[in-house]
Amino acid sequence: MSKKVVFSAIQPSGTPTLGNYLGALKNWSDMKDEYDCTFAVADLHAITVRQNPADLKRRTLEMYALLFALGLNNENSTVFVQSHVPAHTGLSWVLSCYSSFGEMSRMTQFKDKSQKHSDNVNVGLFSYPVLMVADILLYNAEFVPVGKDQNQHLEITRDIAERFNGIYGDVFTIPDSFKEFDGAKIMSLTDPTKKMSKSDDNLKSFISLTDTPSQITKKIKSAVTDSDGEVVYREGKDGVNNLLTIYSCCTGKTIKEAEKEFEGVLYGDFKQAVAESVVKELDPLLQRYNEYVADKQFLEKQMKIGAEKAAYVANKTLKKVMKKVGFYNI
Ligand code: TRP
Repeated sequence: MSKKVVFSAIQPSGTPTLGNYLGALKNWSDMKDEYDCTFAVADLHAITVRQNPADLKRRTLEMYALLFALGLNNENSTVFVQSHVPAHTGLSWVLSCYSSFGEMSRMTQFKDKSQKHSDNVNVGLFSYPVLMVADILLYNAEFVPVGKDQNQHLEITRDIAERFNGIYGDVFTIPDSFKEFDGAKIMSLTDPTKKMSKSDDNLKSFISLTDTPSQITKKIKSAVTDSDGEVVYREGKDGVNNLLTIYSCCTGKTIKEAEKEFEGVLYGDFKQAVAESVVKELDPLLQRYNEYVADKQFLEKQMKIGAEKAAYVANKTLKKVMKKVGFYNI
């Protein structure tokens, strides 16, 4: 039986956090053998908020290096940069004519981002989900592993694909349910009611994948907890719950096992153990990342290979769509 097709992408907007890693990236590298995977660095999505060109370029290379550090490459998957495959913008335009103003207006990410960047509420920010739909449909993806915050975008992928198929016949593969890929939701260390985010102004609130062991330890040691002094997972104990989740993801132990292990243990010692588990998980990744990121020539060569592999699949889908719509074929 052929492998199921997986597509996902990550924006090159800053170094990913422990939250991005445990919520999505770690799943990607776990999936590479079992699925037919394609992963993109979503630079086209990144310009929906203003970017410094030199930073965007550097971060694109860094994100590409990180995917390789995770163990992904063009032999076990396809790893490419979105803007290197023009079919993404091509399909996105076509699909934007099959997407409604109303459904785009309901996207919570648009509402949040347009508030946050109120000086630059551009049309791209509004139609961002359509580009994401194009990304997914170009590769006939069946599964799309992303963080929970992207679920709304995945739901409209199905709506738009079904709408298009309803008019033109079976053009697109309808992506399946995404539930089984629900990654962990990691919260801010300083305000554990909020999601951990790399764009948080408080640098102590998130762990970035390139933080050094001592930075990681310091941040976890200063994480907000509570005054109960009990290491148990319970409603209302957001800080402790978050640290237990992190510990469980990094060690592979269940929350129950972790609670047992830390019975009667002081928060300070618990935090020390959490910090060690994170360092143990991230340190090898960081070392591999440093090696890859230093080898620009290798990465650029891989970008070309990845783009060619991706374009082969994407162009086929786009061609089919253009024919269905009635574009003149010469
Ligand atoms: N919007 C996604 C994010 O910010 C990144 C992304 C772009 C994506 N295109 C995609 C994810 C297609 C999955 C599939 O996390």
